[in-house]
Amino acid sequence: MKPRLFSTLRFLQHENPLGLPRAGSIPRMQRGLPQRRRIKDVKKVIAVSSAKGGVGKSTIAVNLALAFARRGLQSGILDTDIFGPSIPTLLDLSGEPRLSPNNQLLPLSNYGVKSMSMGYLVGETAPVVWRGLMVMKALQQLLHDVDWGGLDVLVLDLPPGTGDTQLTITQQIFLDGVVIVSTPQDIALKDAVKGINMFKKTGTPILGMVQNMSLFTCPHCRNSTHIFGSHSGVIHACEEHGVQFLGDVPLHASICDDADRGKPTVVAEPESDRAKNFTKIAEEIARKVGLL
Ligand SMILES: Nc1ncnc2c1ncn2[C@@H]1O[C@H](COP(=O)(O)OP(=O)(O)OP(=O)(O)O)[C@@H](O)[C@H]1O
Ligand SMILES: [Mg+2]
Repeated sequence: MKPRLFSTLRFLQHENPLGLPRAGSIPRMQRGLPQRRRIKDVKKVIAVSSAKGGVGKSTIAVNLALAFARRGLQSGILDTDIFGPSIPTLLDLSGEPRLSPNNQLLPLSNYGVKSMSMGYLVGETAPVVWRGLMVMKALQQLLHDVDWGGLDVLVLDLPPGTGDTQLTITQQIFLDGVVIVSTPQDIALKDAVKGINMFKKTGTPILGMVQNMSLFTCPHCRNSTHIFGSHSGVIHACEEHGVQFLGDVPLHASICDDADRGKPTVVAEPESDRAKNFTKIAEEIARKVGLL
């Protein structure tokens, strides 16, 4: 069968929100306790999470996926944020994914990283106006019905919160670990700790925490400021909760600009100190899950 374009009109079908024809082997919503499965053809799955919104999960997830690819690993990123997908913008990708001969979605690639996102399926400005059940079904299809074609590592970019998406992923997917992102600010740390507790409860290995946007160095006067409070906020939280501190990413205008123009820092300015922060964290994660 020839690959064909995915039709966004299928979103109107209630039973099958992504409109994928169901092959015999494709899992359906399970009754009772869901069974954990591995994502097909993917060696390691790493989730990037934080219960708090806007702390830099997507920015860090995409830079980690790119750092893995630059290290020579077959790398992919799955945007599990159904309502607010960021990966199409961050990777400067758009358009409807094609279907493989066995009716799986084929990822879109840029900078050597494969990706899948709800954003490819609904278009840049179209809102997803769905109730929970529809969202969960769409998520299941993104988790199980993508043909990754063999990956060493798949990064999952999670939406904020500790709700349906996080539960579905931890109950249905074997995660090799989760990375928690937080700013050092108390209000963010409180939510980060909720995330830590949720992953502990669901038996998901916590690889560690990344502190984002802690330090800002003024490009004019070179003075440094801890915008979101104490520089050691995340380090203290790590000590308190027995979690490894994976590293720091500074607050820098280029990180934001790189993201907006769809060429994240690790590929836009690979020799910069900021990119090195991401690659160091990626190396530590790769070592922890046994990829290096
Ligand atoms: N270290 C950084 N320096 C400068 N800007 C940053 C940094 N990290 C993230 N940003 C910017 O902060 C904003 C939020 O980042 P991002 O979208 O990655 O957060 P998020 O946690 O994924 O948000 P959401 O909870 O909505 O999914 C974006 O504009 C991003 O470019
Ligand atoms: Mg995000």
